[in-house]
Amino acid sequence: MDKRLKAITEAAGYVRKVLDGSSLNPLVGIVLGSGLGKLADKIQNPVTIPYKDIPGFPVSTAIGHKGNFIAGTLGGKTVIAMQGRIHYYEGYGMDLVTLPIRVMAMVGIKYLFVSNAAGGINFDFRVGDLMIIKDHINLMPNPLIGPNIDELGPRFPDMTHPYNTALIQKAESIAQDLGIELREGVYIALTGPSYETPAEWHFFRSVGADAVGMSTVPEVIVARHNGIIVFGMSVITNAAQKTFSEDYMNDGHDVVKTADAAADSMTLLFTKLIETL
Ligand code: HPA
Repeated sequence: MDKRLKAITEAAGYVRKVLDGSSLNPLVGIVLGSGLGKLADKIQNPVTIPYKDIPGFPVSTAIGHKGNFIAGTLGGKTVIAMQGRIHYYEGYGMDLVTLPIRVMAMVGIKYLFVSNAAGGINFDFRVGDLMIIKDHINLMPNPLIGPNIDELGPRFPDMTHPYNTALIQKAESIAQDLGIELREGVYIALTGPSYETPAEWHFFRSVGADAVGMSTVPEVIVARHNGIIVFGMSVITNAAQKTFSEDYMNDGHDVVKTADAAADSMTLLFTKLIETL
C-alpha cells in the first residue's frame, strides 16, 4: 500500500475507534483558524481526541492553536472540529499538513468548513470583518504533488468551484437574517512565516486578492480531491494600509485577539449553516 495511504488509514482507524465508542458519525469537519478555537466550546457532548494520541499525527506549534479533534453535536448535526491546524511554515510537509483532512474524509465527513485569520488586501475591509472565501489563489506548494492516490481522488481534480456556491448563498441569507455583516473575496495563500512586504501587498491586490494568509488552501485542495463540499471564512485581523508609517508593525498577537472577538459571529453563522445541511 502507498505509505501515505497507510499513514492516513492508521490515523483514521484510531479516530474511528474513539468515535465508535460514542456512536459518532461526523457529517461536517471544521477547521478552526488562529484565535477561532472557541467554536469548539459550543459543541455539545464533546469527545476530545488529542492529536498527540493519534498515530503519526503532527502537533500544531502555532500561537492560538490547540491540538485536538473535538467531535460532538453542533447545529443538530454531528461534527468533528480541528481545534488547531497544522501550518506548512511549522516545517511539516504537505502530507502532514493535510493529514487531518484526509482522516476526517476517511471517517466519513461530507462537508468541510474552513476558517482562518487573514490580512486585509481590499481597502474596504476593516479589522474584525468576516469574509466568505469565494475563491483562492494558491502560492503554496500543491499538496497533491507526487504519485496520485487513486483510492482518494482523481489525478487532476477540478478546481473551478472550490467553495460551494449553494452554501455561500445560504450563508449570505443567514447573515442577513442575523444582522451579521459579511464581506466576500479571494484568499491568497502564502507559505509565511514572514508577513508581506508593502510591494507584495500591492502585487496581491493587483492580481485580484482580497485577503492574505498562510493556511487553508492546502486543506481545501485535498478536501476537493476527496470530493468533499467546502465552505470557507476568513476573519480580517489587520487592515490593508495605503502607506506604511515608520512605526507600523504586523503583529501575530493582534491576530489572535481580533479573531477571538469575531469568533462569536462566525460560530453563530457556522452553526446556523450546519443546521441547514
Ligand atoms: N499576512 C499573512 N497572514 C496573515 C496576516 C497577514 O497580514 N494576518 C493574519 N494572517
